[in-house]
Amino acid sequence: MSSQPKRYTVTAALPYANGPVHIGHLAGVYLPADIYVRYLRAQNRDVKFICGSDEHGVPITIRAQKEGVTPQQVVDKYHQIIGDSFRDFHVSFDVYSRTSSPTHAEVSSNFFLKLYNDGKFIEQTTQQLYDEQAHQFLADRYVVGTCPNCGNENAYGDQCERCGTSLSPTELINPRSMLSGNTPVLRETKHWFLPLNEYESWLREWIIEGHKNDWKTNVYGQCKSWIDQGLHPRAVTRDLDWGVPVPLPDAKGKVLYVWFDAPIGYISATKEAFPEQWEKYWQDPDTKLVHFIGKDNIVFHCIIFPVMLKAHGDYILPDNVPANEFLNLEGDKISTSRNWAVWLHEYLQDFPGQADVLRYVLCANAPETKDNDFTWKDFQARNNNELVATLGNFVNRAAVLTQKFFDSQVPARGELQAIDEEVFAQVAEFPGRVGELIENYRFREALGEVMNLARLGNKYLADTQPWHLIKTDAARTGTVLHVALQVAAALVPLLTPFLPESAQKLADMLNFAPGDWQSAGRAEQLPAGHQLREPALLFAKIDDAVVNTQVQKLLDTKKANALAAAPVTAAKENVSFDEFGKMDLRVGTIVAAEKVAKTKKLLKLTIDTGLDQRTIVSGIAEAFIPEALLGQQCLVLLNLAPREIKGIQSQGMLLLAENADGSLALMQPGSAVRNGSSVL
Ligand code: 2FM
Ligand code: ZN
Repeated sequence: MSSQPKRYTVTAALPYANGPVHIGHLAGVYLPADIYVRYLRAQNRDVKFICGSDEHGVPITIRAQKEGVTPQQVVDKYHQIIGDSFRDFHVSFDVYSRTSSPTHAEVSSNFFLKLYNDGKFIEQTTQQLYDEQAHQFLADRYVVGTCPNCGNENAYGDQCERCGTSLSPTELINPRSMLSGNTPVLRETKHWFLPLNEYESWLREWIIEGHKNDWKTNVYGQCKSWIDQGLHPRAVTRDLDWGVPVPLPDAKGKVLYVWFDAPIGYISATKEAFPEQWEKYWQDPDTKLVHFIGKDNIVFHCIIFPVMLKAHGDYILPDNVPANEFLNLEGDKISTSRNWAVWLHEYLQDFPGQADVLRYVLCANAPETKDNDFTWKDFQARNNNELVATLGNFVNRAAVLTQKFFDSQVPARGELQAIDEEVFAQVAEFPGRVGELIENYRFREALGEVMNLARLGNKYLADTQPWHLIKTDAARTGTVLHVALQVAAALVPLLTPFLPESAQKLADMLNFAPGDWQSAGRAEQLPAGHQLREPALLFAKIDDAVVNTQVQKLLDTKKANALAAAPVTAAKENVSFDEFGKMDLRVGTIVAAEKVAKTKKLLKLTIDTGLDQRTIVSGIAEAFIPEALLGQQCLVLLNLAPREIKGIQSQGMLLLAENADGSLALMQPGSAVRNGSSVL
């Protein structure tokens, strides 16, 4: 679509409601989509921004099983958490719906039925993996096994996360059920397939010929490689009890495949929020449809969903699908299961009121063309050196000097000098330049340009030095601050898509409501005599201690993961009951504890065993401080032959558990027990 469309439908991938959202989600999908939409709105374009929770599919039911709750409880919980995070990060959806809504059930069922009635599906009975113990077919992620492509032993039934290959469960080598761990068997079942192969030549024309120059190279490349490898019929139904039921009489126990119903969720969310207008946003060819997604969703949005839309016949196709690459965290892949993430709701607990700082860092470092890394050091440096020292510093200086010299009123401008004219000329170019970058989905560069406007303002103040000038030429100082304040005003509309909260603060400080996007380029936004409000700091420095706490949090996660993954040592040889019976294990209480002189590891303990008070020397000085042990009950092997350690007679052994990282825990009875009680 080259000329300007009448309206826009912008979608952001529906997040699975099986966990909270993290910085990778924000950087990859929701932030660029929000910047794009806010920019379109500032251009007075007609746009609807659509999203919602993806509440079906195996990721949800597996989560429910893990947490011991129902799938509905899982989606209710995470729909709320995710929605709150988007609101708190100012992601300005026109609708945030969910695929468990009644409208969605109706829209997706009708979509399926239209394709069914038009003969667009193939009906096929095939052999699928079945868990005989759980009495269930094993769709998608219910099976893990070895990837036939790269040998990863933990590939899922729908995809190998190591090599990215898209799989079907029966392709896995040595499949095992996620439900019981058993090896599944094959059983016949009937499903409906979308024959993607029949759309191959159309896809070639539409994508390979038609979008060679306007789709991002990563998106285009992935589509081309899919099409070149040859397309196959793809099942759009599953044997599951969670999802939209297949609306056919002979389909009991079958639901629509989550990747069939989820993208239809964009349509149903629009219909739900705009029942009178939704059709023009989905069916009028003058509407530009743009899907913002992460790279793992490319095939679904560029091939499968467009084939569905094309087969249906009433819908427009996406004009662009700007998919981002992935964001890593401190050099490691973000992972929900390993808790290797910065969760958006947790970030706001640690950095209240600083949503814009994260928006800034994630956009400045967005994984637009390659995977990128988020580090807390970079977060701190960008905040302190760019937001505080460049942007915040410029607007603060302009406002504070105006307060000091001109009672917070915009001074009149005298005759302009070349340096002033140059600033105005440059400002006039920013809306067009930034806008073009945004329209081409180059958000990092666009933000860089907006920061260049703040740099221009800073340089202007450094060149003109109004703080010195005031001593000799008040009128010229007035002109300089007049010009500087126009630059600050120009920043408001240009910053809004990227940092909406800070742009609003700046607008409040300047006591002005910005006009549309183009208004940023006009010279006289703040007239002489206009009253400013009290200057306020837009950003605050972040100290080392604050980011160190975040880094420590991640180190703790890494340690916990390593512990969880460490293998448990192999079992020892069996002992006979008689041999075990010879051990005299008792409960005692530690009544005295002190370090053994000239040793690092040894503590001398006095234990009340109920029979006597005896000394035991134990190598636990690095794990416990002596005082912390006093009064603690413990388990003791009483009849271990006494031996001398560092000149002290040790009469028995204290029982401890050793963690995989070498840390120790004292073995204790679960509730208070009389000293001398036997351990059986
Ligand atoms: O990858 C995901 O998180 C999917 N829930 C995205 C779905 S996008 C759309 F098609 F609904
Ligand atoms: Zn693989």
